[in-house]
Amino acid sequence: MSKVYNIAVIPGDGTGPEVIAEGLKVLNAVSSRFGFKLNYTTYDFGGERYLKTGEILPDSAIEEFKKHDAIYLGAIGHPDVKPGILETGILLRTRFALDQYINLRPVKLYPNVETPLKDKTPNDIDFVVVRENTGGIYTGHGGVTRFDTPDEIATQLMVYDRRTVDRCLKYAFELKRKRNAKDKKYADKPITLVHKRNVLLYCGDLWYRAFEEMGSKDFPEIKRDYNHVDAANMWFVKNPEWFDVVVTENLFGDIITDLGAMIQGGLGVAAGGNINPEGVSMFEPMGGSAPKYQGKNVINPMAAIAAGMMMLETLGEIDAAQSIENAMSKVMQKMKSQAAGKMGYSTTEVGDMVAGIL
Ligand code: IPM
Ligand code: MN
Repeated sequence: MSKVYNIAVIPGDGTGPEVIAEGLKVLNAVSSRFGFKLNYTTYDFGGERYLKTGEILPDSAIEEFKKHDAIYLGAIGHPDVKPGILETGILLRTRFALDQYINLRPVKLYPNVETPLKDKTPNDIDFVVVRENTGGIYTGHGGVTRFDTPDEIATQLMVYDRRTVDRCLKYAFELKRKRNAKDKKYADKPITLVHKRNVLLYCGDLWYRAFEEMGSKDFPEIKRDYNHVDAANMWFVKNPEWFDVVVTENLFGDIITDLGAMIQGGLGVAAGGNINPEGVSMFEPMGGSAPKYQGKNVINPMAAIAAGMMMLETLGEIDAAQSIENAMSKVMQKMKSQAAGKMGYSTTEVGDMVAGIL
C-alpha cells in the first residue's frame, strides 16, 4: 500500500490561492510518480473570512491541524484589515499552538536567477537560516501604561529560556552535520550564530554559551563562528559565500531572512518552513498576499512550489523533493525574470512547465 499524507491547505488572501493552485499541481504530479498520495483539506482562513464572519482562527482549527501531517499555506494579509490582526491571529497563533519552533529559510540562488549582488553566482549564495520561531520578543511579554499620554511607557521583552535555545541549536547543528556530509563545500564552512551579544548581555550570552557548549561537546567536528546581527547584514551582502548554516533568535532571524530573500532573487522564489521536528509543520512562500497582482495570472508561483518541495523533504519524501528542485531549476532557466509580471510566462504556465517536467 502506498503512503498517504494528509495536508491542510490554507490558500489565504490575495495571490495566495493562485500560487497554491500551482504548488498543488506540482505536488500532484510528483506524488503519482513517486508512489505516495496526498489528501488535502482546504481551509478558508484569512482576511476575507475575517471580514465576513469576524472569525480569525477557531480553536477547533488548531485541533484539526494537529490531525494532519503538514500545513501548506499561501499568504495571509488583507488591505482592509488592520495590520497585526491576521498575522498574530493566524500565523503566530499556529506557530505557537503547534510548537513550530524552527523557521527554516533556505537562501539559495538558482542558475539564471538574478541577484542584486554584483558578481555573485549560485556558487556563492547557498545557505540556510535557522530562525528560532517561538520565543524572544514574539512571545508578547510586555505592556503599556499611561496609554495615550505624553508619558506613555511601552515594553516588549526579549524572553529566552535555555531549553528553547538548546532545541533550536540542536536542530541547526544536526542540519549542519547533514549538509557537511552531503558536500565538502559545506563542510569547509562554519555554522554561524547570529546575535547581538555586545549589547544584549543576557540573552546574547545565553545563546553564545549554549552554542559553544553544544558545539564543543556534541558536534566537535563542526567549525563554529559568531556574527553580531548588524555585521551579519553586511556580510550577507558582501560575502554571502562565507555562510552555510546560520542560526539565530526570532526577531533577528525575521530581519536577516528578508535580506536573504532579496539576495536569492526576491519574493518570487523565497520559501520557508515553520517546523516542529516532532509534530506538524507549516510551509509557505515568503511573498505575502500581493493584492495588486491578485487575479491577473502574473504572480510567480515558484516560491509556493519551493515551499511544497520543503514540505515533501520534511515528510521524508527526499527523492520527490529533489526532483521538484531539478524541475524548478530547469524552468527558472527559461524564465526571463522571477519578478511578478516579468516572467515571460503566466502563473499557470510556470506551474504547468514544472509539473510537465515531472
Ligand atoms: C515572517 C513574517 C511574520 C513574522 C509576520 C507576518 C508575523 O514576517 O514569517 O517572517 O514576523 O514572523
Ligand atoms: Mn518576516
